[in-house]
Amino acid sequence: MELLILKSPEEAGAAAAAVVRECVRARPDAVLGFATGSSPLPLYDALAGSDEDFSRVTGFALDEYVGLPPGDPRSYASVIDDEVTRRLGLQSGAVHVPDVSAPDLDASAKDYEQAIQAAGGVDLQILGIGHNGHLAFNEPGAPFDSRTRVETLTERTRTANARFFDSPEEVPTLCLTQGIGTILEARHLLLIAHGADKADIVARALQGPVTPDCPASALQLHGRVTVVLDKAAAGGLK
Ligand code: GLP
Repeated sequence: MELLILKSPEEAGAAAAAVVRECVRARPDAVLGFATGSSPLPLYDALAGSDEDFSRVTGFALDEYVGLPPGDPRSYASVIDDEVTRRLGLQSGAVHVPDVSAPDLDASAKDYEQAIQAAGGVDLQILGIGHNGHLAFNEPGAPFDSRTRVETLTERTRTANARFFDSPEEVPTLCLTQGIGTILEARHLLLIAHGADKADIVARALQGPVTPDCPASALQLHGRVTVVLDKAAAGGLK
């Protein structure tokens, strides 16, 4: 595992951006895995400010809420459109997001897995980490061999994500998420975290026991992981 600790979220974003750019330089038609939430925003800021050519890059989002109307600005499809596709200059529609409008969500989850396979898998997966150790929307207890599926969000996650909604009740209770097993198949994982509120969970994930109680501890099982932290998020590491 490669660990980079930078002074600020902005510097961490720039360091993570260098990892993404290296991947795209080596393979201009790379398949990238995109995270949403606030953790990757400094990375997307840094990439948007670079002159890298992302026009041949395609990708897959980690997860999507179930129950928001199509085009809702809080949906991850909208967030990916705004923060990734447009700002980085990817082709419109180049980033797949789980289809939650399909009548059969289990079939939609299977289709998503197949689409990832058909694209040849993910070259570089960008990841954030939830306060309870969730990866994508894999909440504590999710098996390490789990695949894309419907999941129920914990109250803790709904409360954490309430900041993007007008009231906590508006946060959906269901989602479609890639599984831990799906994520672990990406060839290179890039975890980004910043802020003192992530220090404990980052230490548990990287240096604690490998257990589904902390889904992000599954990173310890992967052969190629880059972790980029700001000083505050690294505060709990031994
Ligand atoms: C969100 C997303 C995850 C994200 C995590 C942390 O709910 N589903 O993909 O990594 O929770 O979010 P944040 O980066 O905003 O702290």
